[in-house]
Amino acid sequence: MNNILTATGLNKAFDNLEVVKDVSLTIKKGEFVCLVGKSGSGKTTLLSLLSGLEQPTSGEVSINGTSITNSLENDLALFRRKAIGFVFQSFNLIPTLSAWENVALPLFPVKMEKEKRQERAMELLGQMEIDHRAEHRPSALSGGEKQRIAIARALVNYPEIIFADEPTGNLDSETGGAIMNILKHLHKNRGLSILMVSHDQELAASCDRIIHMKDGEVVS
Ligand SMILES: Nc1ncnc2c1ncn2[C@@H]1O[C@H](COP(=O)(O)OP(=O)(O)O)[C@@H](O)[C@H]1O
Ligand SMILES: [Mg+2]
Repeated sequence: MNNILTATGLNKAFDNLEVVKDVSLTIKKGEFVCLVGKSGSGKTTLLSLLSGLEQPTSGEVSINGTSITNSLENDLALFRRKAIGFVFQSFNLIPTLSAWENVALPLFPVKMEKEKRQERAMELLGQMEIDHRAEHRPSALSGGEKQRIAIARALVNYPEIIFADEPTGNLDSETGGAIMNILKHLHKNRGLSILMVSHDQELAASCDRIIHMKDGEVVS
């Protein structure tokens, strides 16, 4: 199987507002795809459908051959935790937990001793070159540091695909460039598939492929 993700005929409506309209797309294994489009064109909603955060009104999504559209809630939650990593514009770290505890959080439902969880979190923080901040809470960290921690958390369960919704949107261009380089490195050296939303033309141009969205539709 060559595709990590296949979506067919996706629609999503909130009340009477159609936000995603008949979207079909595939992402190949190891591909780095950038999703672009104006604010309000439905990018975040589409990402939520593709990653199983939200269910479509109609249509189907499968990741690595497993349908995530009709699975039971518990099965879906487990599958998502194992197969999918998610990185947000606003980091979405838990303020009361330290950096390493944030990274280790998705390991929790797995039966794993605290020492092992910490070891795995530290390994990833090391890879993100932020292990010296392991004991700090998010409020003590800069935006770039928070996003490194969020990427470490997204990687903790060895996902096959990462969804990133404007991961550099809250960062200055230099810090954003560094975060983009981390994603590129993960793509190049680990063959990770990535679907990233970005406003930045320059960042988008450096991806394998660009998907354009307009008014809820994929236009090219
Ligand atoms: N939960 C929701 N309920 C109602 N409308 C929503 C909801 N989420 C998004 N929308 C609407 O869907 C449209 C697309 O939003 P979004 O997917 O966030 O676009 P983008 O990420 O491209 O800016 C917007 O008009 C937004 O107001
Ligand atoms: Mg958005």
